[in-house]
Amino acid sequence: MLKNDLILRAARGEKTERTPVWLMRQAGRILPEYRAVRNSLSGFKELVETPELAAEVTIQPVDILGVDAAIIFSDILVIPEAMGLTYEMVEKKGPHFPKTVESKSDIDSLKVADPDDLSYVYEAIKITKKELDGRVPIIGFAGAPWTIFSYMIEGGGSKTFSKARRFLYTDPAMANQLLEMITSSTIGYLKKQVEAGANMLQIFDSWAGVLPPEHYTQFSLKYIAKICDAITDVPITVFAKGAWWALPEMANINCRTVGLDWNMNPHESRKVLPNKTLQGNLDPCALYGSNESIKEETRNMLEAFGDQPHIANLGHGVYPDTDPQKVKYFVDTVKELSAH
Ligand code: CP3
Repeated sequence: MLKNDLILRAARGEKTERTPVWLMRQAGRILPEYRAVRNSLSGFKELVETPELAAEVTIQPVDILGVDAAIIFSDILVIPEAMGLTYEMVEKKGPHFPKTVESKSDIDSLKVADPDDLSYVYEAIKITKKELDGRVPIIGFAGAPWTIFSYMIEGGGSKTFSKARRFLYTDPAMANQLLEMITSSTIGYLKKQVEAGANMLQIFDSWAGVLPPEHYTQFSLKYIAKICDAITDVPITVFAKGAWWALPEMANINCRTVGLDWNMNPHESRKVLPNKTLQGNLDPCALYGSNESIKEETRNMLEAFGDQPHIANLGHGVYPDTDPQKVKYFVDTVKELSAH
């Protein structure tokens, strides 16, 4: 069925004829074709909630950049919304929650998401699957419970995440109650993505790096492990940005692949994760360099991962002002240098 299943084979730990490559945030503002679709609409949410258009922008990077996987166009914030906390996407600023979680009664007014409330995402996956016709696998995704929790408490991005972190000291029981609800919501949601056709899944723990290690184990990794235990039919990638200290613990989680950010060392990571596929980890800023410099950096990265199972990617999402030509050059360079 799939004409290119390199990424799935690499995720399963098999040797592949070359290293598969995709980019976090590949479906988005770097492409003028994305901006054209986006500008014809009322806003980001309309795009997320219109399956035909979400499918269209999901496929754009496959056509234009030649990546080895499509990641479904959506956002991690659809989960808090389905739990009863709506978000707005503020132009040029980012997400904003008009109402945040401050007390026990706020938590009690939320629900575990009914997975059917997110049927527009499954519909988008089905359309994408049909239109891709087996060209590349589809990656489904969700935010890690800790990252979603942070948004629900903070109401948006933050420099310190001190409100979310404060909660863990002042009322750990309440924090666990909310984290449990997010975890259950996420499990139902990811299962439906797989049913709709997602071939693999990624869990984004974007704000992992703000926690002290003991809190990370207790309030984040524990819930990620629960999600990985609940989903057994497709390979899962866990990307915990900034949580380098947690890599040894990830060896014990039922995920196939661990994503590395650009601060993490592939050699050291390999030592503590001998049985996982590693994903990453070029600095997104490397794509501001010349083609010669991109080639050099990409070669260094591929060498650092060696001939162990590897999925090439950046160490975080591609920055919006990156030249799509440079992204394409990176993709082509991975394909060229890793072929054997
Ligand atoms: O290409 C893809 O990766 C698929 C689509 C995708 C989006 N968001 C679309 C999007 C994915 C996987 C996400 C995940 C996401 N969303 C994360 C985790 C990944 C990470 O980067 O750490 C986080 C933290 C969010 C929350 C979020 N959504 C923020 C902070 C922002 C604003 C800032 C920014 O990075 O753009 C968004 C908006 C958003 N999500 C855009 C896109 C394409 C830009 C909105 C626009 O079109 O104007």
